[in-house]
Amino acid sequence: MINIAFLASHTGSNMQVIIDACKNNELNMNPVIIISNNSKSVALKRAKIEKIPYYCLNSKQFPNPVDLDEIILEKLLYHKAQLIILAGYMKKIGKKTLLNYKDRILNIHPALLPKYGGKGMYGLNVHKTVLENKEKETGISIHIVDEKYDHGKIISQIKIPIPKSVTPEQLQQKVLKYEHTFFVETLKKISLKNNKLTITIK
Ligand code: GRF
Repeated sequence: MINIAFLASHTGSNMQVIIDACKNNELNMNPVIIISNNSKSVALKRAKIEKIPYYCLNSKQFPNPVDLDEIILEKLLYHKAQLIILAGYMKKIGKKTLLNYKDRILNIHPALLPKYGGKGMYGLNVHKTVLENKEKETGISIHIVDEKYDHGKIISQIKIPIPKSVTPEQLQQKVLKYEHTFFVETLKKISLKNNKLTITIK
């Protein structure tokens, strides 16, 4: 059983699907903590309903980024998180947390990386840019998190054809739907041995 932590800023629909998959034993994982920077996030409401320990930790409470990083790490360690899942987390991960959880932080990105990633490539912006570039396909990338946005090693990716005359909003919804299945399917292939993440592609 892998103890997982979620960091989420908004809706947390991916997080919910993963929690559900843990509850029905589809995933051999155990959600132990949820952290959000946003006190009003739906993700925290979900945490409350699911009775998973949760914290709102942000730069308002901890203006010094070093302090914020330390408190986040402290909570993750206290709850014995082994793997961190970023589920729509809009903040960068601090240095200490990155070091402690090296290669054990995953992010899901709603487009094909590396082309459609980096600063500003979030939310509707990604899908707008993909459509402006007249791409025929978009996709989903799940990658290891490092110090740069959307930059670490890609562990799993799928391509999704773009329907004709789709709006950015429609594309966002379509990709999100795929994300829910794809994230769980990817997590099923992951194992941790001595804190080293292995992914088995069958
Ligand atoms: C998803 O599209 C994910 O790829 C991106 O942020 C969004 C989060 O959606 N990183 P939700 O909070 O899981 O609904």
